[in-house]
Amino acid sequence: MRVAVVGGGPAGLFAALLLKKQDPGREVHVYERNRLDETFGFGVVFSDAAEQALAQEDSEITAAMAAASHRWDSIEIHHAGTVHTSTGHAFSGLSRKTLLKVLGDRCRALGVELCFQREIDDPETLRAADLVVAADGANSIVRGRYRERFRPAVDTRPNKFVWLGTAKPFPAFTFYFKPDRHGLWRVHAYQYEPGFSTFIVEARESTWRAAGMDKAGERETIAFCERLFAEELGGHRLVSNRSIWRSFPTIRNERWRHGHVVLLGDAAHTAHFSVGSGTKLAMEDAVALSRALGTHGDLPRALEAYEEERRPPVESLQRAAQASLQWFEDTERYVELPALQFAFTLLTRSLRVTHESLKARDPAFVENVDRWFADQAARQSGISVSVKPAPPPMFTPFRLRDLTLVNRVAVSPMCQYSAEDGFPDDWHFVHLGSRAMGGAGLVFTEMTNVSAEARISPGCAGMYRPEHARAWKRIVDFVHAHTQAKIAMQLGHAGRKASTRLSWEGDNEPLPSGGWPILAPSAIPYFPHSQVPKEMTRADMDAVIADFTRAVELAIEASFDMLEVHAAHGYLLASFISPVTNRREDAYGGALPNRMRFPLEVFDAVRAVWPEGKPMSVRISAVDWYPGGIEPADSVEVARMLKVHGCDIVDVSAGQTVPDQRPVYGRLFQTPFADRIRHEVGISTMAVGNISSYADVNTILAAGRADLCLIARAHLWDPYWTRHAAHELGFKLPWPDPYESLNAYKPRFT
Ligand SMILES: Cc1cc2nc3c(=O)[nH]c(=O)nc-3n(C[C@H](O)[C@H](O)[C@H](O)COP(=O)(O)OP(=O)(O)OC[C@H]3O[C@@H](n4cnc5c(N)ncnc54)[C@H](O)[C@@H]3O)c2cc1C
Ligand SMILES: Cc1cc2nc3c(=O)[nH]c(=O)nc-3n(C[C@H](O)[C@H](O)[C@H](O)COP(=O)(O)O)c2cc1C
Repeated sequence: MRVAVVGGGPAGLFAALLLKKQDPGREVHVYERNRLDETFGFGVVFSDAAEQALAQEDSEITAAMAAASHRWDSIEIHHAGTVHTSTGHAFSGLSRKTLLKVLGDRCRALGVELCFQREIDDPETLRAADLVVAADGANSIVRGRYRERFRPAVDTRPNKFVWLGTAKPFPAFTFYFKPDRHGLWRVHAYQYEPGFSTFIVEARESTWRAAGMDKAGERETIAFCERLFAEELGGHRLVSNRSIWRSFPTIRNERWRHGHVVLLGDAAHTAHFSVGSGTKLAMEDAVALSRALGTHGDLPRALEAYEEERRPPVESLQRAAQASLQWFEDTERYVELPALQFAFTLLTRSLRVTHESLKARDPAFVENVDRWFADQAARQSGISVSVKPAPPPMFTPFRLRDLTLVNRVAVSPMCQYSAEDGFPDDWHFVHLGSRAMGGAGLVFTEMTNVSAEARISPGCAGMYRPEHARAWKRIVDFVHAHTQAKIAMQLGHAGRKASTRLSWEGDNEPLPSGGWPILAPSAIPYFPHSQVPKEMTRADMDAVIADFTRAVELAIEASFDMLEVHAAHGYLLASFISPVTNRREDAYGGALPNRMRFPLEVFDAVRAVWPEGKPMSVRISAVDWYPGGIEPADSVEVARMLKVHGCDIVDVSAGQTVPDQRPVYGRLFQTPFADRIRHEVGISTMAVGNISSYADVNTILAAGRADLCLIARAHLWDPYWTRHAAHELGFKLPWPDPYESLNAYKPRFT
């Protein structure tokens, strides 16, 4: 087999040596346009885990890498005159030149033909090879040549960065955050060999331009950065190596193989330097490729197996890298946080490191965070939190007006489609009662509709008859009498999504018979085959407001602790907010303040009736996931208006506005919207959506991404979710008296 490798970076060289080692009969050529010692950048970072994984493939390489590596354990965060250090991170740094030399030497020893200063202009010239490995980096010409096959997408990020070096030794992986008159500058610095460190400077484009860096060459860049970081550099100089300001490109390809050509490393995918994994990924690709070729005699099958194996971990790391790079793009949002919390958000930015995993690495750091969090929760709620050690953040109190929650976990609203004429029955009693017993601090009812016509389906719960208040009160009284939980009612009107089937019979599908007339801001049906809603008149608006106020009076009678207005998921109020569903030309359509007019009228009417001391939340869809729809920046403005009108906390959900939405799902996928609103508006938020572990809850809270976490499906699976979390975390939650015997019982689940 003849193998042509384009690119002599880590991916190309490692692939070449593994392929040759696996089958010495293979002819392996590496074509590299530069000399071996002529490369960009300075050092690269590996974690201990990454090194161990690579060691299995070629122990000589990893031994040589280990010998040349500089190791460190700590991360230091310099911000606002403070330094916070977290330990236990086990990283190593290595000079890129050394890495390439180690790889190049091993290639030569195994008989790989290394052809330096050989630029491949057109991969078609390599037709004679049985396999072409495109390891030619982020600007891959091979990928470009077959772009319609690989279908690459390049997402060029807005921040500017420059990769510099310095002789200053850093004892830890070091972050500096330094404001000057142009804006905030970030530095990522680490030592990779004695006397050499990488020093990456990053800033927002506006900051970079204001400082004149858009016109600066290497010399001016160095002079500027040396002045700016004179104190941090302590007399050491900065050095450049093709150090130009760049924007990071996140590269993805729909396919990584075409005929006998396969993409490896940065040519296939990039991951932002702040997760320090580009070289690791590139080398892991090489491992997977050689294993696939070793296992499958058939080349197409081997390349397919390679892509199948590598895609999931690469995409997972790219998601982490995306969260991390966004943190660095949005750092300005967090600079006002207390320095300890700022450090915690930085350490957990990629969502991969959690409160629990950080605790395993550095218990003292997390203990400090927990103590600080508990103290501020005690101040906020007026309830002393003096237990030692400090409780995990999820088990700290939170106050909204006169309502104090014992902890920060809430059962998210979940329609049960099990009511008749809006009446909650025994199902709802057991469903909500058992979840309140399960330990959550707050339990939401499902979307409860303000009139019979406002219901999504004939099975939806309501609050429109005096008897409904009595039926709900039975549930509320149970929760109050037997649990520590508080209970909130979510009030809504389904709008154009009303008069549909029970969800398990056809979600959002119109009722085949027995339907009722429906209302919306504009006469646009949900599906083309859905009922066309009536465009609401002023009289219709007044009637809906009256329905809401009647429902609130009933909710007061039923003794609910809190109210939530449902203005998300494409229901009536949400469909006023979204420009996709609101095409009105009167004062209730057009610009966002107009589209918010009716939802705010409803909110004001509800707030006026609801007791002053009881809090109110509003659930919103922070993004429509649809072109021309609500974007996260709009939802910041929505939250701003809600705050002015007296909303206490925003429940930040997303989507479900239109059936052809294109959501980006994933772990904690909606949390960034709650985080943004909380910081940009200065209002409390609830995060929801794929928060399924207590580690995530503690991380979200301690980082200040939200004040409460709503858990929906995990609570269906496990009504005692919060009790299980407490058990795992070693935190004692009191049991109701009839279960007192559990205080001396150790559950075993396996
Ligand atoms: C600022 C910055 C900091 C980084 N920090 C880290 C870090 O700390 N840790 C880490 O793991 N990763 C880091 N990376 C990422 C890392 O550099 C890359 O992910 C890694 O180099 C990818 O290896 P590769 O072999 O795929 O590509 P490259 O290393 O880019 O190698 C591609 C090679 O192909 C050659 N080439 C290109 N076109 C041709 C052609 N037509 N003909 C012949 N040769 C060609 C190039 O000269 C180059 O040598 C960083 C990247 C940047 C930009
Ligand atoms: C069965 C079910 C019913 C739901 N009903 C409602 C509802 O009545 N009101 C609402 O705002 N969201 C509703 N949702 C959405 C959830 O509150 C929550 O936002 C969503 O499930 C994401 O959270 P999770 O990943 O923890 O499940 C429902 C979700 C489920 C699974």
